[in-house]
Amino acid sequence: MIVTTKELFRHAYGKYAIGAYNINNLEQTMGLFRGNVESKAPFIIQISKGARSYTHKAMLEALIRAADSIFPDAIFAIHLDHGDEATCYDCINSGFYSSVMIDASAEPFEKNIEITRRVVEAAHAKGLVVEAELGKLGGVEEHVSVKESDAKLTDPDQAKEFVERTGCDSLACAIGTSHGAFKFTGKQGLHFDVLAEIQKRLPGFPLVMHGSSSVPQDEVARINAAGGQLKGAKGVDENEFARAAKLGVTKVNIDTDGRLVWCRVHREHFRDNPENFDLRPPGKIFMQEYAKFIAHKNAKLGSAGQLDAVRALLAGK
Ligand code: G3H
Ligand code: 13P
Ligand code: ZN
Repeated sequence: MIVTTKELFRHAYGKYAIGAYNINNLEQTMGLFRGNVESKAPFIIQISKGARSYTHKAMLEALIRAADSIFPDAIFAIHLDHGDEATCYDCINSGFYSSVMIDASAEPFEKNIEITRRVVEAAHAKGLVVEAELGKLGGVEEHVSVKESDAKLTDPDQAKEFVERTGCDSLACAIGTSHGAFKFTGKQGLHFDVLAEIQKRLPGFPLVMHGSSSVPQDEVARINAAGGQLKGAKGVDENEFARAAKLGVTKVNIDTDGRLVWCRVHREHFRDNPENFDLRPPGKIFMQEYAKFIAHKNAKLGSAGQLDAVRALLAGK
């Protein structure tokens, strides 16, 4: 069942976070639905601009519609990840997406507000909700001076003004994470102090944490042992999700970790079966491993086991 993120956030706020997982192909789609249904978790499917053009945007829509009928118990939202203005309008007008992210965070504050406001008006007119971003995600490193690193984080006062002036429905905040497999060089971690200040100014308002892959070290070691070269890859401690959820984080974006699962499965499979050239054997293993991975993440996020309660809420019970 396709719902909006607003409905999911209403149930999750302050208690747990919803996993937002990027997909690009059939195997990820199957593993994603299986993992969420098996762990009884509501979830968010994220589609990036790159994913829309990897095959064809219609291909992903067809895969998701098929998965929805194969897994009738699933409750999920369909979300455009890191959209520009034109892609947001395309998704809003498609009638398929339940929410869009307008990412104008690279623009100056006023310009970000102006663009976000326009997208919010268009989305709300069609019943979609909007995630916006303020602050710049990136490598916040130990060797960067405090002033420079803080400049990348979301300013709590600006966050309040931004939400009030744009009317956005959730806000992606920069609190020390970055995209990809190389997030931290040293002990640097999440800035819970900044998150707490944002929540103080925006009580009850859903916050989003991008760049939340944990880059498990055992996964990296297995990839490297099978011929990979991921030196010094490091991510967010997944045991910190629960603390973030209490501080208003209701959506946690995870993509890189899923790619690591894909990479490990395929590298190990072809290392151990050099005679094989068939795509299905590693594909089958990947779907199983991806489902296991999703269930594990949902347990850490606290979304595992929430499906029946969300269904009851949606039914008005
Ligand atoms: O934040 C970006 C996501 O990981 C999606 O990545 O743009 O390569 O599809 P992508
Ligand atoms: P990761 O690269 O940490 O998985 O972040 C994904 C993300 O933020 C997608 O929007
Ligand atoms: Zn992101």
